[in-house]
Amino acid sequence: MIKELQEEILKLKAQTDTCILAHSYMSEDICEIADFTGDSFALSLKAKTAPQKNVIMCGVRFMAETVKMLSPQKRVLLANPQAGCPMAEQFDADYISEIKKAHPDYAVVAYVNTTARLKTLADVCVTSSSALKICRAIPAQNILFIPDINLGTYVKERIPEKNFILLQGGCPAHAKIKREDVLVAKKAHPDALFLVHPECRPETVSLADYVGSTSGIMEYAEKSQCREFIIGTENSIVQHLQFKCPDKKFYPLSKELVCNDMKVTTLVDVFNCLKGEGGEEIVMDGNLVASAVKCINAMLELGE
Ligand code: 13P
Ligand code: SF4
Repeated sequence: MIKELQEEILKLKAQTDTCILAHSYMSEDICEIADFTGDSFALSLKAKTAPQKNVIMCGVRFMAETVKMLSPQKRVLLANPQAGCPMAEQFDADYISEIKKAHPDYAVVAYVNTTARLKTLADVCVTSSSALKICRAIPAQNILFIPDINLGTYVKERIPEKNFILLQGGCPAHAKIKREDVLVAKKAHPDALFLVHPECRPETVSLADYVGSTSGIMEYAEKSQCREFIIGTENSIVQHLQFKCPDKKFYPLSKELVCNDMKVTTLVDVFNCLKGEGGEEIVMDGNLVASAVKCINAMLELGE
């Protein structure tokens, strides 16, 4: 049944000139039919270069908006309209504007997990894989980093020569994980390396053998000579790695490390989008796009 549906999707995809982009947190059956699977930064790059007229984003809303902003001439669908990112909605633009006013000498660096409106206030966007590089590269000495306090702390600790203001935002799934969870997992799997996403708390990140984005974690595990890994990011990555490297062992850091928004999209949603019976077309105001896209383009230039 899954195989048949996948075959139908591949046929419809070719007939309708559609590119399917899937974030690495999507389920295995969706990743198998995607034209491209990767982390937020890699998906942004693909969004710009994909030759197809139509794009289906299997991920969360800010990712579909990023595709639309980078390719406004394309028809962009979010495969499941319910898929948002709670972190992207944590601060409203008026609040950030007030902080900006109070600190006019600070450059605003926005995690890409933000609304388009928030991006209009940013000088540059970053993703988890590009944040360090970009914060080092920009000339600003003072950085207001929004909204993720954990990614912000990770960057701040590694760039002590710059001044940072951090806010209290973050990913509810990654921030749930405590130091104690790591100690329990390490005790259960003493030979495993611990790989973690920088959206986790500093107390968790400080215990890691490797810190990186979803793609970074997958690449590290695939190339490593080690045979066992505790995976400190959304649990879908455990399954993908187990398929990619059947001779290695992968353990979830915690059964709590689940993003409900990333889990809401199904293979049937993708099928329905292709039949014109599902998904949501991303429609954005031209002025909003013109203003918000600047910080995404700055990210692509500095981060590549
Ligand atoms: P990546 O930069 O690893 O794609 O992270 C996106 C995300 O939402 C992680 O929670
Ligand atoms: Fe947002 Fe966290 Fe889900 Fe990523 S894992 S999409 S940051 S809620």
